[in-house]
Amino acid sequence: MTSPAGNAAGASRLVLIHPDDWHLHLRDGKVLASVLPDTARRFARAIIMPNLQPPVTTVEQARAYRERIQAAVPPGLRFDPLMTLYLTDSTSPAEIARAKASGFVHALKYYPAGATTNSENGVTDLKRISGVLAAMEIHDVPLLIHGEVTDATIDVFDREAVFIERHLERLVREFPGLRMVLEHITTSTGAQFVTEAPGNVAATITAHHLLLNRNALFAGGLRPHHYCLPVLKREQHRQALLAAATGGNPKFFLGTDSAPHPRHAKESDCGCAGIYTAHAAIELYAEAFEQVEALDQLEAFASFYGADFYRLPRNIDTITLERRTWTVPEQIGVGPEAIVPFRANQPVAWQLADA
Ligand code: NCD
Ligand code: ZN
Repeated sequence: MTSPAGNAAGASRLVLIHPDDWHLHLRDGKVLASVLPDTARRFARAIIMPNLQPPVTTVEQARAYRERIQAAVPPGLRFDPLMTLYLTDSTSPAEIARAKASGFVHALKYYPAGATTNSENGVTDLKRISGVLAAMEIHDVPLLIHGEVTDATIDVFDREAVFIERHLERLVREFPGLRMVLEHITTSTGAQFVTEAPGNVAATITAHHLLLNRNALFAGGLRPHHYCLPVLKREQHRQALLAAATGGNPKFFLGTDSAPHPRHAKESDCGCAGIYTAHAAIELYAEAFEQVEALDQLEAFASFYGADFYRLPRNIDTITLERRTWTVPEQIGVGPEAIVPFRANQPVAWQLADA
């Protein structure tokens, strides 16, 4: 802890060891350039999701993507992109060995085919990739899991719980040496499963799932900018996530799942899943932790537990947040690629000291 007294309830400043974001979508090209500064101002490192079009499936593609990200970091900021590969039915065990040897690929991402944005090349059946999972276990490369079934007969609000029952319990049993992260958990079932699982199983939690329940999807009308996957759940689940995030359990750490989509792709008759939170990410987590008087737990959740799980050194420099209300802009960027950020035109209670 940098300053336990200063981070107590009611404090007007929060000094935190520089946090990391363990689940982030940066996209590519112009969008990458417009969103990266928001993350690089707040986070020292981030686990970069590979669901580009086409997806990042090889170490060589990850190397090139990493270079494009590094080239887009604004001057004066330091940011380390931690790359991941996208698992497909045809990922080879040899690619896992190359990933380990690269030093810059830190995990593989499992998307069930059809579960979410750009997941059409995902895995059609987990049984098909058991050889690859075994290679990941041997090489000690973590598996990042989008934990939802795609079975159209399963209610969309139950897809996480059913995934755990149908697939995750078995994975944890069959691969006891494989580190796994159940990404962006949204339910008490997810939080409880991870709490009770062995130490190789962890979870990320987003700011929006800590701040909103599913009523936010329909507040006064249909709210496309609150639509993400896994979809927001009932209040009782939000409460369970808050308890998990603030409970001092090192299995739960910060992953924003900030996922930019242009306004027109969200405000559509078939709107994309994804919420953009990078512009206020750590500030929003501070709001959520403050709701349950747990600001003193924010630093460990945001800056320690994820690094420990990924076996990377903790950061040593700090960032400072001040309790100062500011209004989020109506949009980020201009023209057809403009993004509507979380809380657009609404206040956020904390602000970066140098913002
Ligand atoms: C993500 C995206 O847009 O890439 N969308 C989302 O709703 N979270 C994909 C994902 O993480 O599911
Ligand atoms: Zn995501």
